[in-house]
Amino acid sequence: MKAALLYNINEELVLEDIKVNLPLQTDEVLVRTAACGVCHSDRTIQTPGRWPLSAPLVLGHEAAGVVEEVGSEVTEFKPGDHVTVCGTPSCGSCRWCMRGAPELCLNKKAVRADGTPRLTHGGGAVEPFFGLGGFAERMLVNERTLVKLPEGMPLDRAALLGCAVMTGLGAVRHAARVQVGDTVAVIGCGGVGLNVIQGALMAGASRIIAIDRLPAKLEMAKTFGATDVVDASAVDVVQAVRELTGGGVKHSIEVVGIGQTIEQAFSMLEPRGTATVIGAAPPDVEVRLKAAEIVIPEKRLQGSLMGSSFFRLDIPLYAQLYLDGRLKLDELISERVPLEGVNAALNQLDSPLVARAVVTF
Ligand SMILES: NC(=O)c1ccc[n+]([C@@H]2O[C@H](COP(=O)([O-])OP(=O)(O)OC[C@H]3O[C@@H](n4cnc5c(N)ncnc54)[C@H](O)[C@@H]3O)[C@@H](O)[C@H]2O)c1
Ligand SMILES: [Zn+2]
Ligand SMILES: [Zn+2]
Repeated sequence: MKAALLYNINEELVLEDIKVNLPLQTDEVLVRTAACGVCHSDRTIQTPGRWPLSAPLVLGHEAAGVVEEVGSEVTEFKPGDHVTVCGTPSCGSCRWCMRGAPELCLNKKAVRADGTPRLTHGGGAVEPFFGLGGFAERMLVNERTLVKLPEGMPLDRAALLGCAVMTGLGAVRHAARVQVGDTVAVIGCGGVGLNVIQGALMAGASRIIAIDRLPAKLEMAKTFGATDVVDASAVDVVQAVRELTGGGVKHSIEVVGIGQTIEQAFSMLEPRGTATVIGAAPPDVEVRLKAAEIVIPEKRLQGSLMGSSFFRLDIPLYAQLYLDGRLKLDELISERVPLEGVNAALNQLDSPLVARAVVTF
């Protein structure tokens, strides 16, 4: 099957004809990929100094498709089912699953129990990113990475549910827990940030302040529900947010992934405010906070992984909200490209025109 491989950090992906290592194991499912969104986390993996690469990697983790074949013990899925994949499968019985944090599950089964590779090329192992590998014509995954979609859900839009939508809406609902009337600032209005904005709107936030350094992103943010916009390339964003709110926001949500914006997120809070960090900064990034800014105003700083969500509950809900006309997904897709266009889509992630590019098969 055709797949886009990352051989080395800082290089473009290479289209290759690779092998799916069949037969399926008992708990595996073979999915024909219909669409895969291009998320900034894929781009981050390509960037030097981030994560080491042990084998050629198939990036792509925001995907949807059609089940083609199921392993002998799979009971929840059958050929023909339309599914979204998600990189946070959970076992239901480890201590994090039992504590209600399935995204932190200790048994993700991203690799096969017997250690054989799911994908190979030229006899060597190929690794699917997040256990998924969406920039390929097929995804061979563990059954726990899948969720069934409601009837009528278009697969290109269903792909976005697996990362951008779940991460953005989930951060609002499960991590920040935004309440009616709260003030919210969102730093970074890309594919994930726009979903934070529409989540805050649905939660009833009184002010939604969108912050980005690209004016075109701020225009897009307004159409997703931002009440105010701040151009990070032109003004001091912390001061701007303080002025707009008369002292600071209750929630700041960081969706860029650099030290400076995490520091800004904390500084723009009012007392008792919470900064929620979604942006995935590289492991060596440090954040500097003034100790006095933490205790006396009783502020909080927290992370949120994949929306702190149980995706099998949330993805069907978001799909239904879309089908009912209450969630914007059509507007999130700014371009559809074939697999041959994946490098251009990854390079373009900072372009003002792109909300989300989606690779379609
Ligand atoms: N926590 C999670 O589970 C999770 C899930 C998905 C994505 N992420 C991370 O979230 C971040 C955003 O992902 P995305 O796909 O939306 O990326 P994106 O590239 O679509 O959006 C990032 C936005 O940030 C803006 N930006 C860049 N520097 C800025 C600055 N200094 N100030 C203000 N705005 C700035 C860009 O203009 C862009 O609009 C990435 O770090 C990604 O890895 C985390
Ligand atoms: Zn992602
Ligand atoms: Zn678990």
